[in-house]
Amino acid sequence: MKGIILAGGSGTRLYPATIPVNKHLLNIYDKPMIYYPLSVLLLAGCREILIISTPKDISRFEELFGDGSKIGIKFYYSSQKQAKGIAEALIIGEDFINRESVWLILGDNFFFGHGLHQLLKEALIYHNGEGATVFAYPVSDPHRYGVIEFEENGKVLSLEEKPLNPKSDYAVTGLYLYDNKASELAKTLKPSSRGELEITDLNKLYLQRGLLKVKKFGRGYTWIDAGTFDSLHQASDFVRIIEKRQSFKIACIEEIVYRLGYITKEQLLQTIAPLKNSGYGKYIMKIIEDID
Ligand code: DAU
Repeated sequence: MKGIILAGGSGTRLYPATIPVNKHLLNIYDKPMIYYPLSVLLLAGCREILIISTPKDISRFEELFGDGSKIGIKFYYSSQKQAKGIAEALIIGEDFINRESVWLILGDNFFFGHGLHQLLKEALIYHNGEGATVFAYPVSDPHRYGVIEFEENGKVLSLEEKPLNPKSDYAVTGLYLYDNKASELAKTLKPSSRGELEITDLNKLYLQRGLLKVKKFGRGYTWIDAGTFDSLHQASDFVRIIEKRQSFKIACIEEIVYRLGYITKEQLLQTIAPLKNSGYGKYIMKIIEDID
């Protein structure tokens, strides 16, 4: 399964913090932001992952993750010259996607909840290689997001990007699953009034064709778009509280791939050797002992 993480953009909402550092490399508590969407793609079954970032920053991600062999997957890297919209990821990634279904996740989106792995697996079965699947989450501030309106029978009635008067409380999260038509359809989009190829416009094309599927996240899940100082802080607090209280870390990618059986214990020990003085490395050593 293939997945794309979009980690470019200008990051101006987080200036001056993001002048020297790409937003997705800022920490959410104890690890870089990008670990969180990456962990979602891993749980969704992706073993081939394309990271898209700016021409200036893409080498930073390569430095962080390499070719993926250390964690039993394959990473690809591409750059987006300008922040021309989320849907452009599917055009940049056309060769990588190569007419297959693909997951797309925004690099600043944080998801957590017991059963996420199962929910993603079910979404993939329901997707069945056709159409687009989006994930809806009830929020108190829907005007900040893409908003989805449902009929009483649960059918999707409309989609709007950051509406002034939202027709529902359901935000469309930054996680999407597309069939093999996504790149082709994205190429037909026209830039919006803010000059971007909007992901909501692409999803509307699927809606018009009767091919938009929606999965709702229930109360047991947390979703945070960590694109502002407040939400970044919220996400950090959330991870800190859970990790201090429980003996588990959130989005520890080495743990995830080990549990998924992508790497052996020997490979994992090699991978984490440079990390062994950190709390992160010590945590993984403990996981290895617990599983043994
Ligand atoms: O987080 C969910 C929301 O994400 C959705 O509800 C909206 O429908 C969707 O448009 C998007 O809204 P945002 O205002 O949060 O998008 P933003 O411009 O902040 O970009 C989201 C991420 O994608 C961010 O990590 C930067 C990256 N990005 C964005 C654009 C426009 C790129 O890498 N390239 C781009 O051209």
